[in-house]
Amino acid sequence: MAHYNFDEIIERRGSDCFKWDALPEMYGRGDLLPMWVADMDYRSPDFVMEAIRRRCEHDVLGYTMPSEGYWNAVTGWLKTHYSITATKEELHYIPGIVAGIAFVLLSLTEPKDKVLVTTPVYPPFLNLPRASKRTLVCSPLKIENGRFAIDFEDFEQKIAGCKLFIMSNPHNPAGTVWGTETLRRVADICERHGVLVVSDEIHADLTLPPHLHVSYSTVSEAAKHHSITFMAPSKTFNIAGLGSSTCYIGDQALRRRFFGWLDGMGVAGGNIFAFTGAEAAFAHGEEWRQQMLAYLNNNVQTLKRFLAEQMPAVKAVLPEASYLAWLDFSAYGIAHKELANRLINEARVALNDGTTFGGKDYEHCFRINLGCPQSLLLEGLDRIKAAVMR
Ligand SMILES: Cc1ncc(COP(=O)(O)O)c(C=O)c1O
Repeated sequence: MAHYNFDEIIERRGSDCFKWDALPEMYGRGDLLPMWVADMDYRSPDFVMEAIRRRCEHDVLGYTMPSEGYWNAVTGWLKTHYSITATKEELHYIPGIVAGIAFVLLSLTEPKDKVLVTTPVYPPFLNLPRASKRTLVCSPLKIENGRFAIDFEDFEQKIAGCKLFIMSNPHNPAGTVWGTETLRRVADICERHGVLVVSDEIHADLTLPPHLHVSYSTVSEAAKHHSITFMAPSKTFNIAGLGSSTCYIGDQALRRRFFGWLDGMGVAGGNIFAFTGAEAAFAHGEEWRQQMLAYLNNNVQTLKRFLAEQMPAVKAVLPEASYLAWLDFSAYGIAHKELANRLINEARVALNDGTTFGGKDYEHCFRINLGCPQSLLLEGLDRIKAAVMR
């Protein structure tokens, strides 16, 4: 059995990678430790790289199509991990989930239609409805026992009149795993109000034991018929640059409308490396995934210990899935601008500013990415402590 080394420090600068190479543009300086963009600093798996190299041995990179091997790998993964028994007709390749959500907005809603999200949330959930001139409606999450929870009173009030609910399942930031009971309640409410649900499950494969991911479409017949699910190997196997995602729709009429639009508009055709990489990842990736999850779990524990021992005033929402944690620094009483400045120019770390996840309410919060070698995580945390607690 291969033993994968997630402690290895890989130089990513100069590879046109957004996380490291966009620092000067995004933060005004390049000498930061990047703990922002949601990809990992680990080597992409050898079996994915090998499959891509093998494909490159054929010297023609003309138009492509998903192979039977690709569909078998995707359907096998969905069945084994999430009890979704999908045929390939119920699935569609999608170049990326942000694009997929944009396609849903453009094809299944009209300008000014109301679209609900629960904040704080992954910034494109806020930006896409705005950019497509829909009406954004935000239902703030509560924090209960150190984890995000839906405020169902507010949620049900706000969802009336909405066309679409865009859900991050698990939730970004902080990888909250929603669980069957919560998802059933969401499904009941959305069904009663005739709301279409997008369940973005890009972080599902990164659910950290003992938590279990539940796919939204599986919680009830209603959920299956009023939802569109997006999944991807991109976060799981650190291959986001390939742009390879999948859309699952259990309802035939909805499928015809959405897949018909995708095909008619020619926006979801796919590329050679997306198919090759995804097939290899799903077909051979379980052992790699398990070892990577154990490493991530250890990083989460490291953060938890660090905060308890060194910065107990930070209120944190720690990940139950994936590698993103939500840190609330409000106890230190530092104004937002000063806090952001200290993190960048003194700690020299790049975190995601909480305001981008839902506005002023989150100005004392920052999202941190733990998907890195433990040595870099500890270095980043020491630097954050020195800048915040000086
Ligand atoms: C919840 C969520 N959805 C979608 C994405 C991005 O997906 P894609 O790269 O496929 O557009 C991310 C990346 O951070 C994410 O966290």
